[in-house]
Amino acid sequence: MTGSSGSFIVVEGIDGCGKSTQAELLANGLGALLTREPGGSPLGIEIRRLLLATKHGEVSDRAEALLMAADRAQHVVDVIRPTLLEGRSVVGDRYIGSSVAYQGYGRRLDVDKVRDISEWATDGLVADLVLLVDVPVATAVRRRSAAPDRIEAAGEAMQHRVREGFLAEAAANAHQWVVIDGDHPVADVAQSVNESVRERLGL
Ligand code: TYD
Repeated sequence: MTGSSGSFIVVEGIDGCGKSTQAELLANGLGALLTREPGGSPLGIEIRRLLLATKHGEVSDRAEALLMAADRAQHVVDVIRPTLLEGRSVVGDRYIGSSVAYQGYGRRLDVDKVRDISEWATDGLVADLVLLVDVPVATAVRRRSAAPDRIEAAGEAMQHRVREGFLAEAAANAHQWVVIDGDHPVADVAQSVNESVRERLGL
C-alpha cells in the first residue's frame, strides 16, 4: 500500500520454523498490529477450526485451498485493510505465500491457480515485504511441541515440498521477499529481521 497508509509485512515459513515468535517481536518493535492466518477475523476463527480439526476426515485439497482463501478474504476486509488505512502497519503471520507453498507445492494443486484465487480473494492487496524464516525440515520438526494439526499431520515429505515452494517463491519475487536464516538463536534471527525491514522499508 502507498500514501499515508501503514506498511504490510508478512512472515512466512514451514511449521515450527519460529515465524510466530519473530512476527510477534517485529510487531511489538514497530508498534504494528499482529495478526495471523488462518483465523485472523471472527469468521476466520471458525474457518481455522474447520481447517485444522482432525475429526472431519478427508478434507479435499480444493476445499482446503478455498477455505484458506475465504479466511484470507475476510481477514483483509475486517482487519488488514482497515488497519493500513488508519496509517498503522500490520505484521501478518502467513498470507498468500502460505497457500502457494502448502496448497500449491505441498498438496500439488496448480500453483498459478492457487495464487490467482488468493489474489482474487484479497482484491489485490499485496504485502510490502515478505520475510521467509527458513529452517531445514528436521530442525522444524524437532522444535514442534504440540500435537500435530491436520496439515502438520500430512507428514515430512509434504513439509519438504512446502519448504521448496517457499524458497521458489522467494527466488522468483526477490523484490518483495527476503530469506532469513532461521536456524539461529531467536535474538539473532530477530536482528536479521529488523535489518531487512530497515533496509527494504526504512522502518
Ligand atoms: P499456523 O497458524 O501457522 O500454525 P500453528 O499456529 O499451529 O503453528 O498455520 C496452521 C496451518 O495452516 C499450518 O500447517 C499451515 C497451514 N496453512 C496452509 O496450509 N495454507 C495457508 O494458506 C495458510 C495461511 C496456512
